[in-house]
Amino acid sequence: MKVLVIGANGNTATRVIRRLAESDHDPVAMIRDPAHRAKFDRLGVATVLADLEYPIDHAIQGCDAIIFAAGSGGKTGKDKTVLIDHLGAIRSMVAAQVHDVRRYIMLSSINNDIHSQSPIAHYHRAKAHADNHLVESDLDYTIVCPGGLTDEPGTELVAVNTELQGSGLTSRENLAAALVACLDCDNSVGKSFSLLDGDMPLAEAMMAL
Ligand SMILES: NC(=O)c1ccc[n+]([C@@H]2O[C@H](COP(=O)([O-])OP(=O)(O)OC[C@H]3O[C@@H](n4cnc5c(N)ncnc54)[C@H](OP(=O)(O)O)[C@@H]3O)[C@@H](O)[C@H]2O)c1
Repeated sequence: MKVLVIGANGNTATRVIRRLAESDHDPVAMIRDPAHRAKFDRLGVATVLADLEYPIDHAIQGCDAIIFAAGSGGKTGKDKTVLIDHLGAIRSMVAAQVHDVRRYIMLSSINNDIHSQSPIAHYHRAKAHADNHLVESDLDYTIVCPGGLTDEPGTELVAVNTELQGSGLTSRENLAAALVACLDCDNSVGKSFSLLDGDMPLAEAMMAL
């Protein structure tokens, strides 16, 4: 599948791109800064310039699947969280529908809630709005909800649960492995699940969803 990775220069998404580049899939890295092109050129991965604050139809056209791994990050204001994590995500879903890109995999988070009162409520609310929009769309979605992200090595040993509240850690490598695995796991379509580091092999965990 031709897979558009949104937020491709990010810490998790770069791992996603590396895995896709070694798979049978054909990744396209969506980046917003031309200076980031060289990194993907070295991997032999195509890039497209697009920003979630503006139309991204040109990036989505002709793809078979989308992995959304962008985020405004903790260093921007709450306005950017709404513009990117909430509205930007929905923009990409609408563009996917318009251009008939049916498969949509969302990197989300545990503890999202449109009424969140958490210390990062603006983030959990924005992600919840985007996730709810995706669930209510007609797209073939999967929503993967990690805990706190780490740069620990990947073990591909995880704990998954369709209960999306909780606490725990998820290595970005395990998360990247799961996001890529969703593409080849029909059992993940139409599902939302939490993903923490654990002790069950990833493939087995995904089949048990
Ligand atoms: N951190 C955690 O503990 C945690 C826990 C649970 C879930 N999450 C979720 O996991 C996601 C990925 O985490 P990460 O650490 O891999 O993220 P990251 O390294 O901060 O990457 C985020 C990417 O989003 C891109 N981006 C930001 N604004 C954009 C825009 N307007 N248009 C297009 N792309 C844009 C950034 O582009 P540039 O490279 O150009 O800046 C960056 O490459 C987070 O965004 C969050 O939603 C995080």
